[in-house]
Amino acid sequence: MTKALFINGSPRKNANTAQLLKRAMEGATEAGATVEMVNLYERSLNYKGCMSCFACKVKGGRKGVCSFPDDLKPIMEKAVDADVLVCGSPIYCGYPSAGLRAFMERLIFPAVNYSDFGHPVINKPKRSATIFTMNCPNMQIYKDNAYDILMDTNAQQLGMFGPTEILYSFDTYQFGDYSRYDTAMLDEGRKAEVRRTQFPQDLERAYELGKRLVIG
Ligand SMILES: Cc1cc2nc3c(=O)[nH]c(=O)nc-3n(C[C@H](O)[C@H](O)[C@H](O)COP(=O)(O)O)c2cc1C
Repeated sequence: MTKALFINGSPRKNANTAQLLKRAMEGATEAGATVEMVNLYERSLNYKGCMSCFACKVKGGRKGVCSFPDDLKPIMEKAVDADVLVCGSPIYCGYPSAGLRAFMERLIFPAVNYSDFGHPVINKPKRSATIFTMNCPNMQIYKDNAYDILMDTNAQQLGMFGPTEILYSFDTYQFGDYSRYDTAMLDEGRKAEVRRTQFPQDLERAYELGKRLVIG
């Protein structure tokens, strides 16, 4: 059975990124996969990015998977074993969240083959996708901010494991109650409208994405 792993790189377990991931998970389930979600910001998860231990490069050692002994180790095993991997992250200061970046370092570096750059160590090919959520209102401004380079380059690294794609969710509703916060630069009315009209479409695109990744 297809194993699909969903990685939430938002600290919030039920906000925009998580909701899209959950919908993608529903699509993957509908298509027959076994699914699991990992919240990287779970307080019980203590980990950092790559610790430069080089265990993944030791001669005769196990290649292609990060074996650094911390709370991410079992998750890295699952990520390597997954047939489908979906990572989600908000844009934080122009980049994917630090939590997702740490996960990505631990996933990507073991696959980099120092003996032959042209042939990464792929234990299991996988279809993958990245879901990005953001205040940024549309693709034109996304590009104006160079997010198509800063963000997409990160997502495209998953392409070393097989076909990968990106789902963008623009202009997300950030706060439960905008009136509690200093948000003069944000148009709450428009945000609410986008939440009502665009976000449900993004959820449906996430559902279709989850299904498509499993069906292949
Ligand atoms: C620390 C921080 C930095 C952010 N930086 C950006 C940014 O650079 N560009 C942007 O469009 N949105 C930015 N945002 C907004 C979030 O990307 C957006 O609200 C996102 O949908 C939040 O995801 P979540 O609801 O899953 O937590 C930032 C939010 C936070 C908390």
